[in-house]
Amino acid sequence: MEVFQTSAALKKYLFQQRCSGKIIGFVPTMGALHEGHLSLLEAAQRTTDCTVCSIFVNPTQFNNSTDLAKYPRTLEADRALLEAAGCDVLFCPDEQEIYPDQGLLRLDFGPLEQRMEGAYRPGHFHGVGLVVAKLLHKVSPDKAFFGQKDLQQFRIVAQLVRDLSFDVQLEMVPIQREAHGLAMSSRNRRLTPEQRHEAGQLYATLQRAAARVFELPLPQLHRMVEEQLSASPSIRLEYFEVVDAHTLEPVQDVHQAEALALCLAAYVGEVRLIDNVLMEEK
Ligand code: PAF
Repeated sequence: MEVFQTSAALKKYLFQQRCSGKIIGFVPTMGALHEGHLSLLEAAQRTTDCTVCSIFVNPTQFNNSTDLAKYPRTLEADRALLEAAGCDVLFCPDEQEIYPDQGLLRLDFGPLEQRMEGAYRPGHFHGVGLVVAKLLHKVSPDKAFFGQKDLQQFRIVAQLVRDLSFDVQLEMVPIQREAHGLAMSSRNRRLTPEQRHEAGQLYATLQRAAARVFELPLPQLHRMVEEQLSASPSIRLEYFEVVDAHTLEPVQDVHQAEALALCLAAYVGEVRLIDNVLMEEK
């Protein structure tokens, strides 16, 4: 696996790959890699010839400095994992490489970021959009792979790609789950074994809600989710939303939407987790 810290060295290498006809696949990450990331890499390996994974803990997308400080940083283990998984290129820039100066640009994704993560994490999607745009410029991939767990992020990145005419095809890769259903996340390693077990309730509750979404009125569905999660002492629900899976607008009538997404965010102890289930065409 080739490892680059600078954009110049990365670009030079990828230029040669492109000249020899290779299709470049890109998996951007913030490290602390797990099976979920490896499934993104596998998806990239299936349809591209040269896979690039980036590891950069992006400060501009953290609206909470404690969260940024506590974000796990495990570069050596990540590097070994990627190497074993057959990744071709690791790009691990430092902060100076990505943000040589403060910059003035502010990204605003309008209605796409006014709910859910955007509402609870002000400025988060500005930071995501900024770093993804910078990384897309540096890697110039043919395809880029993002996880369904961050559904709103995927829609935001798709908008960014459209609005700024990036010539890249995006693919959303399904959520990978632990045995008891917890969506894989780098944050899971901050949970105690008991909290990790309890956190399985997030998916269990989403599944129960999905089973009844066409039968219960929405306010009752919301109450059901709130009640079920409040039975777990370490879980504090932040939001539960039933939205159109494409526009992420809240649905008024679930029978009208072509595809639904049931999304939630909750604290398990001090760790904030998100999850969702997609319900494509009924
Ligand atoms: O999903 C993530 O890990 C991050 O938000 C991303 C896309 C790598 C941008 O920092």
